[in-house]
Amino acid sequence: MTKEEKKPASTRINWYPGHMQKAKIQIQESLKMVDIVVEIRDARIPFSSENPLLRDIIAQKPRLIVLNKKDMADAKRTDEWLEHLRNANDQAVAIDAVNDNLKQIIPPIIKDILKAKIAKAQARGIRKKMLRAMVVGIPNVGKSTFINGVVKKKVAKSENRPGVTKSLQWIKIHEDIELLDTPGVLWPRFADELVAVNLALIGSLNDQVVDKKMLIKQALFHLYNFYPDKLTMRYGISFDRFDFETMIEAIAANKNFLLKDSKKDINKAIDFILTDIRNNRIENVTWEFWHEPYQQ
Ligand code: G4P
Repeated sequence: MTKEEKKPASTRINWYPGHMQKAKIQIQESLKMVDIVVEIRDARIPFSSENPLLRDIIAQKPRLIVLNKKDMADAKRTDEWLEHLRNANDQAVAIDAVNDNLKQIIPPIIKDILKAKIAKAQARGIRKKMLRAMVVGIPNVGKSTFINGVVKKKVAKSENRPGVTKSLQWIKIHEDIELLDTPGVLWPRFADELVAVNLALIGSLNDQVVDKKMLIKQALFHLYNFYPDKLTMRYGISFDRFDFETMIEAIAANKNFLLKDSKKDINKAIDFILTDIRNNRIENVTWEFWHEPYQQ
């Protein structure tokens, strides 16, 4: 089985309007039963990994934004994103769902966000108000890993398909918090080309959707602008000016990627860089910053 075939089905969803409608209805139905929505995003692309309609779908429900995979992102940029989200009146936290003790981290945050609701219930004589939460997010952001982490035991890998109906099950994650065991899977913001690039860089979109050369050109441009040391360290290159063709040729030469006629094998260099990025061999890179949009 190849690496591509091993990827979760989530990464290969083709979102048709029917799927999107089903996913939206499924989440709206579940929402009626919950007090809070936990929205998982990828800390490396906090904007691109947001569903464009989620805010409308959940309307007035309290929401906790979780920037997951913080171990793969740039810590300074993650802090900036958190500050930005909190300034916009969102509750936000950054985690590494694989290694952090989510059972300890998440319940107190949920209880803090819902403290007014708890106080209201207590005023009505309800001593222990059971709070209900659900997890939502686009494919591959770590929803299942998050649920496993807060439950602290292996729950079944969720069906990563939109609109899959199954009976709702609640899992207790704290003495007074229950979590819906199936996350809501939403579609990404694929209308925007830069977003598609970001999703493809982290492996959440098929390569067929985005031109690989364009993808790596964007990636190198970003690394050149914001992480030049990582380019030097990984590929042994350092340039004073961004010129994709020169750069990719230099990388191919340094890696000894040559064609039969001694020309540089650019396609091999492109594939190599893409594999590096997806396998986190260029560590701690955040692909979009909230306050520094850039254009090529
Ligand atoms: P989903 O339900 O939202 O579709 O995502 P899922 O939990 O399946 O996670 C997608 C991939 O991301 C998995 O890797 C998972 O291990 C990884 N992952 C989730 N959270 C984190 C995190 O905080 N840090 C890091 N480094 N990785 C994370 P996979 O290779 O697809 O599968 P696996 O064999 O590693 O489980």
